[in-house]
Amino acid sequence: MLLTEETIRAGLKTSVVGSTIHCREIVDSTNEEGWREGVRGASDGTVIFAEEQRAGRGRMGRRWTAPRGKGLLFSVILRPRLAASRVGLVTAIGALTVVDALHEACGLRPEIRFPNDVLIGGRKIAGILVESRFISNIADIFVVGIGLNVNMDRADFPPDIQTPATSVFLESGREAGRALLARRMLEALDRWYEVLLHGSPAAITARWREVSMVIGKRVAVREGDRVTEGVVDDVDPVEGVILRTANGTVAHIRGEFIEHLRIIG
Ligand code: BTN
Repeated sequence: MLLTEETIRAGLKTSVVGSTIHCREIVDSTNEEGWREGVRGASDGTVIFAEEQRAGRGRMGRRWTAPRGKGLLFSVILRPRLAASRVGLVTAIGALTVVDALHEACGLRPEIRFPNDVLIGGRKIAGILVESRFISNIADIFVVGIGLNVNMDRADFPPDIQTPATSVFLESGREAGRALLARRMLEALDRWYEVLLHGSPAAITARWREVSMVIGKRVAVREGDRVTEGVVDDVDPVEGVILRTANGTVAHIRGEFIEHLRIIG
């Protein structure tokens, strides 16, 4: 069944996110569509869903592919007036949104792999791409793009992906209603957006650490040609990951530079 505004909106409890909802069949990228709408003046909380993307974007210039109609592919335009110190938390609330909505809608307990992958049992179930651009005369805009694997079976995933993938279907053993999941996503983002705007940043950081799967783990972090191995002492959505390496030095690596973080043990 195609996603429609009506089915997503039925019983939706949000104050900002979902102020306008567009459901498209095919787009290049919902994030790109978000920028087009944003520049035209779309309101804070406008959401664009698509059944299929022809040029879905992932982090670090990678592609995001998903078979038509089996996932949730959407982007939310946020136009907050944010103190500079809170800007780095926008990505964190994207990841927390997915974690909370998957728990509320399906009883699943995903974890966050720094900087912003959502995994269950070591397999990736969702990716988040937050983009911000400077456009003169337009106040800050963020486009929060979320790709969630919903009803994919094993054979729906390409064999050559970096992190093995999973889906709601594979984790829960049954097909999930995408409209309900979409609604829970918008509601969770609405709550976290309120915290970002008016609440304590510490509440975001604390919850984010709680569901972070890397603290205390031995990891290999790749930035370009450089790979740094170490044990994660701490992780923070803005400050990055703090690694204790084998020779006793402490490396501090921010999320935007990380191409891949592999958990070794
Ligand atoms: C990643 O893990 O690299 C981030 C993937 C983000 C994919 C989503 S799908 C909806 C939105 N539109 C895009 O083009 N990308 C994001």
